[in-house]
Amino acid sequence: MSQGLVTAAYIVAAILFICSLAGLSQHSTSMRGNFFGIIGMTLALLATVAGLGASAEMMTRVAAAMAIGGAIGVYLARKVEMTGMPELVAMLHSFVGLAAVLVGFNSYLHHDTDMDAVMVNIHLTEVFLGIFIGAITFTGSIVAFGKLRGIFSSKPLSLPQRHKLNMLALLLSLLLLAVFINPEMVSLPANLTPTAGTQLLALLVMTLIALAFGWHLVASIGGADMPVVISMLNSYSGWAAAAAGFMLNNDLLIVTGALVGSSGAILSYIMCKAMNRSFISVIAGGFGTDGAASATAEEVGEYREITAEETAELLKNSESVIITPGYGMAVAQAQYPVADITKKLRERGVKVRFGIHPVAGRLPGHMNVLLAEAKVPYDVVLELDEINDDFSATDTVLVIGANDTVNPAALEDPHSPIAGMPVLEVWKAQNVVVFKRSMNTGYAGVQNPLFFKENTQMLFGDAKASVEAILKYL
Ligand code: TAP
Repeated sequence: MSQGLVTAAYIVAAILFICSLAGLSQHSTSMRGNFFGIIGMTLALLATVAGLGASAEMMTRVAAAMAIGGAIGVYLARKVEMTGMPELVAMLHSFVGLAAVLVGFNSYLHHDTDMDAVMVNIHLTEVFLGIFIGAITFTGSIVAFGKLRGIFSSKPLSLPQRHKLNMLALLLSLLLLAVFINPEMVSLPANLTPTAGTQLLALLVMTLIALAFGWHLVASIGGADMPVVISMLNSYSGWAAAAAGFMLNNDLLIVTGALVGSSGAILSYIMCKAMNRSFISVIAGGFGTDGAASATAEEVGEYREITAEETAELLKNSESVIITPGYGMAVAQAQYPVADITKKLRERGVKVRFGIHPVAGRLPGHMNVLLAEAKVPYDVVLELDEINDDFSATDTVLVIGANDTVNPAALEDPHSPIAGMPVLEVWKAQNVVVFKRSMNTGYAGVQNPLFFKENTQMLFGDAKASVEAILKYL
């Protein structure tokens, strides 16, 4: 395939990626957005492979690698439950980070010796930054995967002097960069091989530091701030891919990486705003937090229980109902009976709406995806700031598998790990029914005073079974 055709295909693919991002920004156009992304990626892959101009043997190897990778991808995508998506995404981010590290080392070891001194310096900086960002993304994403899977505790790791450790890692990496692009070494092209011991050693030491740095950065973040970390790692993986694009001289990889990097950064910023967190503090591993936040899972009073039949009665006598779903709805796959209840109540003339917290569930837009899947009309699904003032005028709130996102401690307890995070103020409604299986805490590991309020009643059991039981009485 001629270089001109490859470039044309890359431009079309880049435009399709932009259309894809635009489509994904709204529920109603998200399917189309996904479709554009798939076409763009197929075109990009075909053009890249066709443009390689490699020997038949090399093409066979590329085809074999793509077939194996593609088969694993299809298998995982078909097998993964919706609740496992965040972990899968975290794992995929780690692959991007690892790929950038490997491309970086490969690019350093098989370096074009015809470059002039300035270009060599630029190239070495690209290699260094690509490996640095890639290594942070790699281990950071593995920790994020472990925290989401429950392999690692969701509580923040608080090493003594942790901010100084982070600062030291950054300073050492800068020093190693200076060693790495030492003009004396790069002026001797023949030395740009593994025999350039100091240079390779600097790169290896920096890689180890960046691996530890990525691990520590994400391990230091508490459960409630994980949404920001996930979108931040998404952004890092984009920049790692862009750095790999520079090293491989692949324009499309640079553009695609920059699109992922910047959209991830915008998403992280939106998440920080939604959670009232400082962006800098979160990306610096909790820098600026006092470290005094304490989480307790102890019960803080008496709670009252309600049955499915009584809940159905309550709903029949309500004029307005708000449903606030959370991670438990995803675990129970309760969205379908929840959609049925909504339909039944609306047929009875009850005003039913949904209140969606920006970090409900385990991935951005998690609840919106589930409700859309169950065909709940978009116009009754409202964001936190659109609905928060309406709870006081609401008869009944159904809290279905949500916990941290409806926790009043965020507003009432300045020492809580979730202090300052805006929450759905469900307790202002006349009646609140909480659907969960036990008195366990939510993801942030904090007890929820909502459960012990006068107007709250607990409906224990799997959310799907509870909602189906209510449906029978309606
Ligand atoms: P959580 O605080 O995680 O609470 C979920 C609740 O669902 C738990 O209290 C659990 O109680 C209940 N539950 C689990 N399985 C259930 C089932 N089968 N039936 C009924 N209830 C069930 O949920 P949330 O309010 O959605 O908050 C999300 C949390 O995750 C926040 O802390 C957020 O920061 C964090 N997070 C979010 C994201 C994104 S991007 N959204 C990413 C990472 C982390 P029982 O065990 O007693 O049933």
